[in-house]
Amino acid sequence: MRMVDLIEKKREGEILSKEEIGFIIGNYVQGVIPEYQMSAWAMAVYFRGMSLDETADLTLAMAQSGDQLDLSALGGRFVDKHSTGGVGDKTTLLLGPMVAACGVPVAKMSGRGLGHTGGTIDKLSAVPGFRVELNQEEFLAQVKKIGLSVIAQTGNLVPADKKLYALRDVTATVSSVPLIASSVMSKKIAAGAQGIVLDVKYGSGAFMKTLEEARVLAKTMVGIGKELGRQTIAVLSNMNQPLGRAVGNSLEILEVADALQGKGPIDLMEVSLELGAWMLVAGQVVSDVEKGKEKLRASLTSGAAWNKFLSFLSEQGGDAQAVAGRHLKIAPWNLPILAHDSGFVQEFDAHKIGILAMTLGAGRATKESSIDLGTGVVLAKKAGEWVEAGEPILQLYGSSKETLAEGLMLANRLVSVGNEAPELPPLIEEVIQ
Ligand code: URA
Repeated sequence: MRMVDLIEKKREGEILSKEEIGFIIGNYVQGVIPEYQMSAWAMAVYFRGMSLDETADLTLAMAQSGDQLDLSALGGRFVDKHSTGGVGDKTTLLLGPMVAACGVPVAKMSGRGLGHTGGTIDKLSAVPGFRVELNQEEFLAQVKKIGLSVIAQTGNLVPADKKLYALRDVTATVSSVPLIASSVMSKKIAAGAQGIVLDVKYGSGAFMKTLEEARVLAKTMVGIGKELGRQTIAVLSNMNQPLGRAVGNSLEILEVADALQGKGPIDLMEVSLELGAWMLVAGQVVSDVEKGKEKLRASLTSGAAWNKFLSFLSEQGGDAQAVAGRHLKIAPWNLPILAHDSGFVQEFDAHKIGILAMTLGAGRATKESSIDLGTGVVLAKKAGEWVEAGEPILQLYGSSKETLAEGLMLANRLVSVGNEAPELPPLIEEVIQ
């Protein structure tokens, strides 16, 4: 087999066999297929697409390219969750303790933020002492003990995705449905989940800008799950404005603490309850999603989810008391953005808020950038809410006077207030399974 023939085959829109896809991924990871040939192949896939069978073969070849976690020794049915990325999306940190408190163990590997989107591992790093890197034994032992652990992706899990994602990033081949779907699903499959709940986001702050694009991606991932024997449920949720009010790492941890004590923003709770309820359905502890939501609400009112969160933080070396006492480091440079006029806040473009938070120091422009965990934005008002002239709409927290000044320029351009309340789309659009 020669790579050049396989590039040509895909360029002509033909279907690649399982063996051919295995050849490509295996040799790419080994360094036998050079980056320039892989780039040409990725571009051919970008233009020609892949059938569902090809995408499932690609997913499996990628999942098998490195270590695979075997959770069977722990017993129980493991359910994983993945978001396609958003702004202010802290649902994993709510869902983990809520779902674990309802009897479904959560053993999750998460990522760091890049560009305008945040990452769970950065948020957890805002808790003093919290260890985001555990070895496999420590990770599994903690799940066995308290039913919950969240760590950064380990060294050799899906090396094919690490290489291919970095290549796609610089060859304009990221936004291809088969390449995104196989990237996401290979990581979930290698991490050992039997059930997978996907939060597929669409809107200004998401990867998929329209509902139609998100639906195609969701159907492809659910189809891969079916082919590979993993129950997969995709929830399509709106990401036109940030989820909740806090965007930025320490700020989001404080919002999670409030939410787990029953004081969460409505939108964050709606998405978390929907995703969590599907996790309980996939974990086979409830028969339908409404019963799942009831069980999750009970875990909040009883304090079980909050206590689970605190013990999760302590088990991983984090200072749970600093979180409970709200003693996290928040940037000292802060500034309110005041409304010039009274009216309804029209929209908060999630992408622009994400860029604003990144400019203030909360996110990374490139993988190598460093971040300031205490920075970010708090939305005092959300789209559709009434604001009086002179009242704060946003609060900015910057790493220095200079970043705050830069942030101020961006923030002034993104606030708009009008006489009519804007029509907001539903937060949860549909569920595909
Ligand atoms: N998230 C992933 O994990 N992979 C992609 O390709 C895009 C988003």
